[in-house]
Amino acid sequence: MKTSLALIGFMGTGKTVVGRRLAAELGKTFIELDEEIEKAAGKTIPDIFHDSGEASFRKMEAAAVKKYAGKKNLVIACGGGVVLDELNTLQLKQECVIVCLSASLQDILKRVEGDKNNRPLLDVPDRESRIKELWERRRPLYENAADLAIDTSGIDAPGVVQKILSALRKYESNHQ
Ligand code: S3P
Repeated sequence: MKTSLALIGFMGTGKTVVGRRLAAELGKTFIELDEEIEKAAGKTIPDIFHDSGEASFRKMEAAAVKKYAGKKNLVIACGGGVVLDELNTLQLKQECVIVCLSASLQDILKRVEGDKNNRPLLDVPDRESRIKELWERRRPLYENAADLAIDTSGIDAPGVVQKILSALRKYESNHQ
């Protein structure tokens, strides 16, 4: 049976906050891939995008996935774009049940408000259009990758954790 979980989903769906709580609840180790990328690069994600571009960032992201994807007993919060490279998804699937968080556009806009500087892809004048455009492009990738899909709209982090735990119990009883 798989012993790790990977949280995927669009920016602002709560992967980090929920992942940290979920790991504590399950007694697993929490890994935030963006943080691992920043540690390895010795700079922030906006600086990586600024200095070397998105393609370089994606290479670093793939390296971080490779490092953690096969490890046991982790809860891995992935960056929103992790599914863009199919190899990342395949690697995560080895040891992780993949949980995709989604949220309404309104919730996403609210959550990413104010941290324009932390999310280079949303550093544009019309964020709503950018979110819609990225979301449309990525939706099929999230859907294909997910073992479990969790809608977080209007639910707080502890509520989302409970929703995941209950979905996980059902999933595990069907995948013994
Ligand atoms: C990205 C999402 C970010 C981060 C980078 C790119 C994306 O992570 O990896 O800015 O392509 O959606 P979060 O989803 O944690 O914001």
